[in-house]
This record gives sequence, C-alpha cells and structure tokens, in this order.
Amino acid sequence: MIEACIFDLDGVIVDTARYHYIAWKELADELGIEFTEKDNERLKGVSRMRSLDILLEIGGLTLPPQKKEELAQKKNENYRSYILKMTPEEILPGALKFIRELKNNDILIALGSASKNAMTILDRLELTPWFDAIIDGTKVTAAKPDPEVFLKGAEALNANPANCVVFEDAEAGVEAALRGGMKCVGIGSPKTLSKAHLVVSGLHEMNITKLSQL
Ligand code: G6P
Ligand code: MG
Repeated sequence: MIEACIFDLDGVIVDTARYHYIAWKELADELGIEFTEKDNERLKGVSRMRSLDILLEIGGLTLPPQKKEELAQKKNENYRSYILKMTPEEILPGALKFIRELKNNDILIALGSASKNAMTILDRLELTPWFDAIIDGTKVTAAKPDPEVFLKGAEALNANPANCVVFEDAEAGVEAALRGGMKCVGIGSPKTLSKAHLVVSGLHEMNITKLSQL
C-alpha cells in the first residue's frame, strides 16, 4: 500500500538546473574558471556550498571560508533574480496532473528538496497548497545521500517510510531514498539511476497504476 509520495523539486517538478547553471557560469566567468554544461551535471542534487567547492576544484582555486560564503551568497542572489520571474508554465509536463491524481486517490504529498529556495519556487509555481509537508534545505542538516530529508518528510506526514515513494532525478537522491527504506522512481536516464525501482523520463509517464505496481 502506498501512503505517500515525496518529490524532489529541481529536475523533477521544475527545471531549475538551467538557472543554477546561468548563475554559476556568471560566477565562474568572474573567477576566470571554465565551466561547462557538462560540469553543471555534477551540481545536481548537491548543496550550494558543495557546488561552489566543485566549481573551485574545477578551476584549481582554494579560497578562505569567508570568501566562499560571499561568493555563494552572490551566486544565490543572482539565481534568485531568475527564479523570482518563474511562472506556473514552467512546471514540468505531467507533474500537476500526477499530483492531482494522487490527491484524488488520498495519497499524501511531501517535498524533499536540498534547496533553501524551495518555498520561493513552489510559491512562484503556485504549487504550495498541494503539499501536505515541505522539507527543504532550511530544515535538514545532512545532505543527500543521507536519507534525513525524506525521513523527515515521512515523519511530517505520519507515514511509514516503507509505504513512501520518492521521485528523484539525482543519483544521490535515489541513494537517499533507498537508505531511508523507501521505494524510488528515478526521473531521467536508466543508466545513471539504475538503483531506482523504476525509471521514467518525466512525471508525464507516471500514473496511479504504475505507482501501485511498485
Ligand atoms: C538542489 C539542486 C542543486 C542545488 C541545491 C541547493 O538539490 O539540484 O543543484 O545546489 O538544490 O539549492 P539552493 O537553492 O539552496 O542553492
Ligand atoms: Mg533534483
């Protein structure tokens, strides 16, 4: 029996990776670091600070903690200037339809995202009212693949982790779901997300029948 679905945000409900990329790229340019879209793949599902560390690693730069704080903040301000302009049209295909279907079937819905900007994004997409619980980067201490974010989601919903299904586009997120004893649907390539119980290319491929077969 499935009690609840827990959704990652970036790459599952909305494609914010391109805004992250633009903002990181601008910072990289300022620092004289060559940063490509392929490099950006490494930042998916990774926290803001860890993302900066990866960027600096690519450029072979070592900076003091205070400077890193400053740069992370600068990137975030730039990133926020993009997400503040988002509209509900940017919800990925099939996401809202699937969420509606879950509600109609009395399945609880939570968000499990590493992003500290998740609330802003959900508000911009007008999706906040659909969620029974929201666990974001402001509420967790351990990053994925630690299962904390999803376990907190299950707890907030009062659901048994074994009866929860996590939707994730990042390898670390799939790992986190499995470590939390949950089922996981990978969003993306079966090659990179091979540990997930099912992999689909997007939520448009999901429905209640597929969910109940997990
Ligand atoms: C998600 C994204 C990452 C991002 C992280 C933190 O996991 O996939 O690319 O770095 O959230 O986001 P934030 O909005 O807090 O900088
Ligand atoms: Mg993601």
